[in-house]
Amino acid sequence: MRKRVIFITGASGEVGQALLRDLSQNPANQILTMDLHPLPPELRSLSTHVEGDLLNMRLLARLVSEYEMDTIYHLAALLSTRAEIQPEEAHQVNVEATMALLKLAAEESQWRKRSVQFIFPSSIAIYGMPDRATKAHFQRVREFEWNQPRTMYGCNKLYCEQLGSYFSRHYRQLAAEQPPTIDFRSVRFPGLISAVTVPSGGTSDYAPEMLHAAAQGKPYACFVREEARIPFMAMPDAVRALLLLAAAPRAALTRQVYNVTSFSLSAAQVRDRVLAAFPAAQITFEPDLKREAIIDSWPADIDDSAARMDWGWAPEYDAERAFQEYLIPGIRERYAGR
Ligand code: SER
Repeated sequence: MRKRVIFITGASGEVGQALLRDLSQNPANQILTMDLHPLPPELRSLSTHVEGDLLNMRLLARLVSEYEMDTIYHLAALLSTRAEIQPEEAHQVNVEATMALLKLAAEESQWRKRSVQFIFPSSIAIYGMPDRATKAHFQRVREFEWNQPRTMYGCNKLYCEQLGSYFSRHYRQLAAEQPPTIDFRSVRFPGLISAVTVPSGGTSDYAPEMLHAAAQGKPYACFVREEARIPFMAMPDAVRALLLLAAAPRAALTRQVYNVTSFSLSAAQVRDRVLAAFPAAQITFEPDLKREAIIDSWPADIDDSAARMDWGWAPEYDAERAFQEYLIPGIRERYAGR
């Protein structure tokens, strides 16, 4: 008998760690995690962890022979700045590994005659505002608007949303007896900020970097100008969004890909909140024009009313609560005594 598990890829990343902490609180959840990297020591008892590459088909085949995956949280990805530096590698990780996993989930659904649930975090990076004036004019963007990403990462995520929809609706459906397909669900996240981990390779990283630098008494040069604005979300809300979407009755879902968001701040507003907590913080603005152009192409805010309507989504942390009750105390604790 294979062991029934929840499978998390990219588990050593920021969202992966937070999701693993949350899911492991329910002792009924058996969790299989995978990443190129080991889990941090404090999380190692929470799952069976496989260190390896999702593009290693033999490894994936072995995992399927040992485990029955009820739900897959496919979090592994190269983020937007890193993907601009290594576009081919990004395509392999972000697209080819996703395709391999979708196929695996589809075959698994057919084999056991029950849908495997496939939860896929997409991103604000799938949007591409052509210029600053357009961004200023269209403040809150809906799911079907401005789907013209300017980054490799954005292209990868947008395509994989479509692949996921394809696998859940049309893959191998020509036969007279139509086998069950995967249950694909996706959220488009804004920039995420965690009190526990720091991101790497993303373009929204200036906000968490500013905070974590201030808490450590290190100077920070922000790579976008003060007016640059995108929406953000505190990590606990990101995990809640994934779990709420996974728990929603399928019949309630009117779409497969949903915007979710919490608060929209300019880089100066992030700085002001950081300074209010750490008055000695040394924060300067030294825009990197290429990274700033990526932020300028992302909308100032996204409209998440479909998620609110269909599966009761609402963030628990607005900007005030995110900083006062989660980020500042969490970050102080993280660096206390260092
Ligand atoms: N936070 C991501 C990035 O900056 C966007 O999904 O790449």
